[in-house]
Amino acid sequence: MTRTARAIQITAYGGPEQMRLVELPVGEPGPGEVRIRHEAAGLNFIDVYQRTGLYANPLPLTLGMEGAGVIEAVGEGVTHLQPGDRAAYASNPPGSYSEARVMPARNVVKLPPEIAFDTAAGMMLKGLTVQYLLKKTLPVEGLQKGDAILFHAAAGGVGLIACQWARALGLELIGTAGGPAKCELARAHGAAHVIDYTKEDFVERVKEITGGRGVKVVYDSIGKDTFERSLACLRPFGLLASFGNASGPVPPFQIGQLGPKGSLYVTRATLFTHIATREATQAMADDLFDVVRSGAVKIRIDQRYPLAEVAQAHADLESRKTTGSTVLTL
Ligand SMILES: NC(=O)c1ccc[n+]([C@@H]2O[C@H](COP(=O)([O-])OP(=O)(O)OC[C@H]3O[C@@H](n4cnc5c(N)ncnc54)[C@H](OP(=O)(O)O)[C@@H]3O)[C@@H](O)[C@H]2O)c1
Repeated sequence: MTRTARAIQITAYGGPEQMRLVELPVGEPGPGEVRIRHEAAGLNFIDVYQRTGLYANPLPLTLGMEGAGVIEAVGEGVTHLQPGDRAAYASNPPGSYSEARVMPARNVVKLPPEIAFDTAAGMMLKGLTVQYLLKKTLPVEGLQKGDAILFHAAAGGVGLIACQWARALGLELIGTAGGPAKCELARAHGAAHVIDYTKEDFVERVKEITGGRGVKVVYDSIGKDTFERSLACLRPFGLLASFGNASGPVPPFQIGQLGPKGSLYVTRATLFTHIATREATQAMADDLFDVVRSGAVKIRIDQRYPLAEVAQAHADLESRKTTGSTVLTL
């Protein structure tokens, strides 16, 4: 009998109402692939970009880039995983909003026994992102203990991991967040300073906090609403690491302005460049697993929704109602 699985699919780009619960055939893994039965799937802002078509994929599309579960079958050439292994991933192509799927094995790693499935589903994409941001997306002068960095949306899924990991690295993370409760949450997770950017001018506050010098790096996932002001927070030779568009894509900008502002650097970073190979994925995942097992980074799952209620999950994420990680339960 053909193996089928419930999954969340879109057949057209649009709002949360485009997502439908369907039953799909799962199939057998081909060369370099595995079949995984999901225990939990992670929700990420990239799922919103893919649902709306800001990031285009062929349709129909099963959404979801992050998941954890048990390997059911492996295809030819896959040697790092076996049927029965607990496993987790952040990976292209999308498809984790499902009970089971066939996918490339390259970005799937064995899950250490101490890490629960829902924790893994809430941390792989977000935690690997923080790993490459704080360790590989650096200003020319590097980051040293005691350096100040600015991290927007510090109470979000990526943000709360960044607050804790930055503290563990000895960095002074200045976190922005919307409202006093989110600011308090970021502070409780290791932000050295917090700014409620819905009320305060974050450029002025960053100047105050850094004695007028500015920060060496701004990690900006907000995009349109913050880009220009993020540049104004940098010290000479500083780096603006743009890595998301929660408020909309960054419009075209004048590269010439980077000179008088202090020979600034700008990068647009994405996790998928960093996890292009199996070796790189494993090395980054090992680093993430270490920091979680040590207790230095705790994964907060503040929202859980059954797969069938994914539309509500998207609506809540988009309307800034969530904090920390969100998982879809299966
Ligand atoms: N490039 C990469 O490799 C990569 C990888 C992972 C994630 N990301 C990006 O990192 C960001 C965080 O991802 P996440 O999944 O952890 O989401 P999240 O931070 O949990 O949620 C997004 C947060 O952005 C803030 N925000 C500010 N303006 C917003 C607006 N106009 N609409 C909606 N939200 C707004 C909200 O926090 P406040 O209320 O506190 O402002 C909101 O809670 C996203 O932009 C995502 O695309 C990039």
